[in-house]
Amino acid sequence: PGSVLLLWAAFGYLLGSIPFGVLVTRALGLGDVRAIGSGNIGATNVLRTGSKGAAAATLLLDGGKGALAVVLARALAAEDAVQVAGFMAFLGHCFPVWLGFRGGKGVATFLGLLLAAAWPVGIAACLTWLATAAALRISSLAALVAAVLSPLWAVLLGRPEMAALALGLALLILIRHCANITRLLAGTEPRIGRR
Ligand code: G3P
Repeated sequence: PGSVLLLWAAFGYLLGSIPFGVLVTRALGLGDVRAIGSGNIGATNVLRTGSKGAAAATLLLDGGKGALAVVLARALAAEDAVQVAGFMAFLGHCFPVWLGFRGGKGVATFLGLLLAAAWPVGIAACLTWLATAAALRISSLAALVAAVLSPLWAVLLGRPEMAALALGLALLILIRHCANITRLLAGTEPRIGRR
């Protein structure tokens, strides 16, 4: 029970800590994504290399690792392991041991784990991101709106057991976007695809 949860926590963390943005850009000869734009390792910043393919791959892989942690935990363990594995995959992405604990902001991993854990909530969060991004063309703002609304979606869509997880993830996403929030308030946050 306790030790099984600990194992799922470790597994989720290690899976989440694979820095796909760094690996994809390096593999494609695009340089180190941490040296451009916001310096973040996520898909939004990978797009600033100019490669839509690299950004799409990063989005899918970073989302996929969150989803995989959840799917495996659900297939092989009890429901409490699902939330632990998903949460720890998110933490792994934000604080990866391989990058000296300086990782990403967790948005793609958040969406992926939510889609796998409670798909209506995940779909609602993705649509919130897309609608905000389509209207305002700012990735960080879309992420903040999607994250903050996700606990509400959990309750409204009949998955209240996901609300605490969503709330915790939303708070961490807020904290990880401090620099973005400062730029948003100053009106200097770049639009999607711009440096
Ligand atoms: O997923 C991270 C996104 O919300 C913001 O990325 O590079 O604009 O800080 P970035």
